[in-house]
Amino acid sequence: MSRVVVVTGSASGIGRGMAERFAEDGARIGIADINAEGAEEVAKELSATCEAVAFPVDVSKEASVSACIDAVLQRWGRLDVLCANAGIYPAMPLADMTEAEWDRVTGINLKGVFFCVKHAIAPMRKQKSGRIVVTSSVTGPVVGYPGMTHYAAAKAGTLGLVRTAALELASQGITINAVMPGNVMTPGWKGQPQEYIDAAVHSIPLKRLGLPADIANAAHFFADERSDYITGQTLVIDGGQTLPETAQVMDGW
Ligand code: NAI
Repeated sequence: MSRVVVVTGSASGIGRGMAERFAEDGARIGIADINAEGAEEVAKELSATCEAVAFPVDVSKEASVSACIDAVLQRWGRLDVLCANAGIYPAMPLADMTEAEWDRVTGINLKGVFFCVKHAIAPMRKQKSGRIVVTSSVTGPVVGYPGMTHYAAAKAGTLGLVRTAALELASQGITINAVMPGNVMTPGWKGQPQEYIDAAVHSIPLKRLGLPADIANAAHFFADERSDYITGQTLVIDGGQTLPETAQVMDGW
């Protein structure tokens, strides 16, 4: 029987790329997103190649996450892979940041991962198997970015969650790892000025922005049944962007 995969934030961007990658396996895929209409559209498209169903969810609300996982179990009776990917990245200077804005961003990007992992592990423990892949970022764990203190704190926080959860879940056959994307061209980037995009490309040794498929391939590797000896690990997928020691180091190479 094909695996049951739930990808949060899969109505768009990286999550959508992940769902498309698992669709290649013929997996049964839950398109879990707060954008119910977008999730329906993606589910409809993927239904040409696999069984894909939209599950509306707000990952920042525990009751919503719990209901979403229940609905998945009701439909398919199991959960093999969770990609906790949903996230937002609004920029705001630290000095102007309100408590509400801090809570909104960390509520989706960190607490949302906690809720998704917590509710996914119940069926996985019963099955004595499961794969969890969390979408972190290079922003926070590796580098900083002005305007992104809330985001960076949340994304760094997810790695602490991953490493600790890996220890708690290891004896139950559940692995949890994190992908750390660099700059990936997704609808979330809409509205970025061309100069910003050009500057990002210039700073990437492989000279292109990432694609959702680049991150999806890494998530798919962690989620593979054969990756059962890898847990608590992280993988940067950024075209080498965070490698240079100075901004000039790549000039002339
Ligand atoms: P996107 O904006 O294209 O897609 C994000 C999806 O998450 C959307 O479909 C949105 O409806 C959904 N979502 C937002 N809030 C939600 C909530 N409360 N509950 C459920 N779903 C919700 O974004 P993108 O670029 O695909 O980002 C996906 C993940 O990758 C995020 O966690 C982001 O922080 C991370 N990331 C993205 C990078 C990039 O350059 N695009 C770089 C590093 C990390």
